[in-house]
Amino acid sequence: MTSTPFTDPDTVAALYADAARTQQRTGALLTAKTGGDDATATIVDLAARHAQDRPRVCEIGCGRGTVTLALAEALAPSCQTVVDLSAAFLATVARRVAETGFAVNTVRGDFHHLPLPEAGCDVAVAAFCLYHSTRPADVVAEIARCLAPGGLAVLATKSVDSYHEIDHLMVDTGLDPHATTRSSLYATFHSGNSADIAATGLEVAEVIHRDHTFRFTDFYHLASYVVTVPKYVLPQQMTNPRDLAAELRRRTRDRPFTATSTVTYITGSSRP
Ligand SMILES: C[S@@+](CC[C@H](N)C(=O)[O-])C[C@H]1O[C@@H](n2cnc3c(N)ncnc32)[C@H](O)[C@@H]1O
Repeated sequence: MTSTPFTDPDTVAALYADAARTQQRTGALLTAKTGGDDATATIVDLAARHAQDRPRVCEIGCGRGTVTLALAEALAPSCQTVVDLSAAFLATVARRVAETGFAVNTVRGDFHHLPLPEAGCDVAVAAFCLYHSTRPADVVAEIARCLAPGGLAVLATKSVDSYHEIDHLMVDTGLDPHATTRSSLYATFHSGNSADIAATGLEVAEVIHRDHTFRFTDFYHLASYVVTVPKYVLPQQMTNPRDLAAELRRRTRDRPFTATSTVTYITGSSRP
């Protein structure tokens, strides 16, 4: 059983207590993106490819609900439920759903014990969240329990070395000397082990890897992302992008900065 700071329940709760901060992180990353697929679109396409008409959809670790809204629009579910540990995120999802007029049940719960009935959903999605578990196979078993016969699960995660270029910059500039030895956010469920873990509870059908590239225009752009990433341990006075960017510039030449990641998608069905 691997455990990392990102599988500690208190750390995870703190990490997702503030939906605006997560939006800042995602926003900085999205504006830097120059290569790779649209993960939300791919997840929805995979779900739609296998789904029956008006499926019952559940989503585990829904975050701010970006995939939720896309699933609602594309699949027109007869019933859609999202489960997340974060009350702040569930409130954000409820607000976004209300604004768009879709009907989605928001349920607070731990994905190790899904508060969902057995065989009650046709499509289950768990995107970029199983790496918060020390026992992702247990979550896969829970997902399999909730899937109806012939139901489809879509899982997504990233490579363990995602954004390692930033770790090296932090070490090379001396801003975070231990960034390269600290555990990856994705350590427990990543591109390299996720298919095997999924296969412990599901009949795996597809495993798709997509390379993603991010080009931050300058150190301010990069710093806007870095200050929101819990992995980095920065000097206290550098918790805002302006100060971190200034310190980076003091230590090395400002320049466009490229970082990479692999996103992995897995589809599978429940075993008969
Ligand atoms: C990186 S966000 C992913 C959000 C969303 N799926 C997406 O793709 O944008 C990870 C989510 O997993 C949730 N999470 C982490 N641990 C959890 C647990 N034990 N049970 C339920 N949700 C959990 C967090 O609250 C957070 O919303």
